[in-house]
Amino acid sequence: MPPETTPSEWPDAALQLMSARRTILPRRLTSPGPDAAQKRQLFVAAATAPDHDQVQPWRFIEVPEEARPRLADVFGQALRDRDPDATDAQVEQARDKAYRAPLLLLLVVDAEKGDPAIDVYERMVSAGAAVQSLLLMATAQGFGSALTSGKALKAEPFRQAFKLAPSEFAPCFISIGTVTQAKPGKPRPDPSAIASCWEA
Ligand SMILES: Cc1cc2nc3c(=O)[nH]c(=O)nc-3n(C[C@H](O)[C@H](O)[C@H](O)COP(=O)(O)O)c2cc1C
Repeated sequence: MPPETTPSEWPDAALQLMSARRTILPRRLTSPGPDAAQKRQLFVAAATAPDHDQVQPWRFIEVPEEARPRLADVFGQALRDRDPDATDAQVEQARDKAYRAPLLLLLVVDAEKGDPAIDVYERMVSAGAAVQSLLLMATAQGFGSALTSGKALKAEPFRQAFKLAPSEFAPCFISIGTVTQAKPGKPRPDPSAIASCWEA
């Protein structure tokens, strides 16, 4: 939409939505999650991200409810592999994470797909923009959301379970659902701390 037709309420509305997005940890996200139409809307939002040369460097893999026990096995195994001294309680805690949040998506980024001149930094910027757009849409739909990472995502059995290509990596999971308990968010940086003017 050309600037002259931009509704005057957009800046305030945009900032209100962006400020409303807060990390709500997956254990505080319950059913219902997004329905099929809302899920589609989330991916349409993600697809608005800038993407240099349209290489489509990222994708999302949903982990449906019936696949959660398999994910729990992968999480449990990943912990045992990297820490043979892990207690049963610690393994159970790792397994438990597979069952949180009604909608669980794995972000996958491809470092090489399409034009190899588009380096991995550009691809991550595109992926970040896609994730933020998706999170903002989830917020607009009334859901809470969170990103979670962890060592398990780099483990070989995890990569194999999700059939990641050698050029692909998985930076984080995205959890979305109904908020059971909201906590006050962390303070956001002041604009003066994140922007400066080049003194050439
Ligand atoms: C790629 C990525 C991975 C993250 N992984 C985790 C995580 O494993 N655990 C966690 O508590 N938060 C995680 N976060 C969320 C940040 O902690 C959170 O965004 C930050 O504290 C700011 O809070 P806000 O999202 O409410 O603004 C992750 C964020 C990003 C960008």
